[in-house]
Amino acid sequence: MSKYDFVKNSNLVIQAKLLRQTNMYPYFRSISSPQSNTTIIEGKEVLMFGSNNYLGLNNHPKIKEAAKQAIDKYGTSCTGSRFMNGTIDLHLELENELKDFLDKEAVIIFPTGFQVNTGVIPAMAGKGDYIFIDELNHASIIDGCRMSVAQRLKYKHNDISDLSRKLNRVKNCEGTKLIITDGIFSMDGDIARLDKITREARKNDAFTFVDCAHALGVIGKHGAGTASHFGITDQVDLIGGTFSKSMASVGGFVAGNNDIIDYLRHASRSYMFSASLPPASTASVLAALKLIKSDDSFRQNLWKNTHYALRLMREHNLDIGLAETPIIPIYIRDSILTFRVAKELLDKGIYVNPVVAPGVKETDALLRFSLTAAHTNEQIEYAIEQISNTIKAHIPQEALCL
Ligand SMILES: Cc1ncc(COP(=O)(O)O)c(C=O)c1O
Repeated sequence: MSKYDFVKNSNLVIQAKLLRQTNMYPYFRSISSPQSNTTIIEGKEVLMFGSNNYLGLNNHPKIKEAAKQAIDKYGTSCTGSRFMNGTIDLHLELENELKDFLDKEAVIIFPTGFQVNTGVIPAMAGKGDYIFIDELNHASIIDGCRMSVAQRLKYKHNDISDLSRKLNRVKNCEGTKLIITDGIFSMDGDIARLDKITREARKNDAFTFVDCAHALGVIGKHGAGTASHFGITDQVDLIGGTFSKSMASVGGFVAGNNDIIDYLRHASRSYMFSASLPPASTASVLAALKLIKSDDSFRQNLWKNTHYALRLMREHNLDIGLAETPIIPIYIRDSILTFRVAKELLDKGIYVNPVVAPGVKETDALLRFSLTAAHTNEQIEYAIEQISNTIKAHIPQEALCL
């Protein structure tokens, strides 16, 4: 067997080839404009319902100006890790602003949100410890767990009785217990039942860590995330997240009390041994934060659009499960059909993300439709009408889950 055979024969490569041959391959499409309510993809302007630009800040003049000024002052890179030569005063300013915004004692910022999870989780739970994760947690949480030698116990999605059973299983065991959940689930779009999770944590003396990647800017006071949404910030030990969605930039953060954050400063390997957030990105997050704190209209528009889209989709009898946030899963429940519908929609000028296994369970293959504050009612109406017609051309009305 040649050394390349395992690559050529991998199911991933075979599926990608088949999708390319049938003109349904949906990945790595080239974008040549800012992403707003419309975007230019492969040379054609389309309605953008597949971004994470929830507040529509991606092309905001004040954020762009802040990034440009930071490049003029600091250059394009920090040239090293926070630990050594890569801490600039803007990083400290951002950490300071964020701790106030999130109502926590301290914050550290990471190069990406993915690195938050691969850095924080192995540092918080190791040999003899236990990690409890929701079965639908993001890949970066799964990978963070894989990097830890702690025992991992998966509980059913948002099922607090199952979490309680899993906690009970190790009730008398020594070792740290760490419960981790997405704040808003990245594909199914529902909100974690964090109030109930923290109650279980208290009963079992467990740490709680909520990843607010999709909740930041979207729920909670001025968009402070899921803990703030439930009014339980003081009961959540760690709040993590990313700047790559509502904050119109890149990077990640974790917030907690002084002791834990100081520990993570010296124990979180992806924080210590990776180049720090570039000046332009740091400055753009600071500018976005300023806008979010002073102007709730972005979030209000996002929620107006979300409620409108949810209502229209339910009127069209689309299968959207428990959708309740700007991430709306439209379940197709068949991978190939999901790719086909996404391609047909793109041809009609509407961009949505097809999501199949392993991103979701095979039977939960879905179109991920996401809103921004910048969408207009007409754009939402047109997109949903087209989505409904396209799906119904493939799936008879009576087979749609009502
Ligand atoms: C829940 C969650 N955590 C972390 C990440 C990774 O964030 P980043 O893009 O900053 O690496 C994502 C990205 O989609 C996410 O959905």
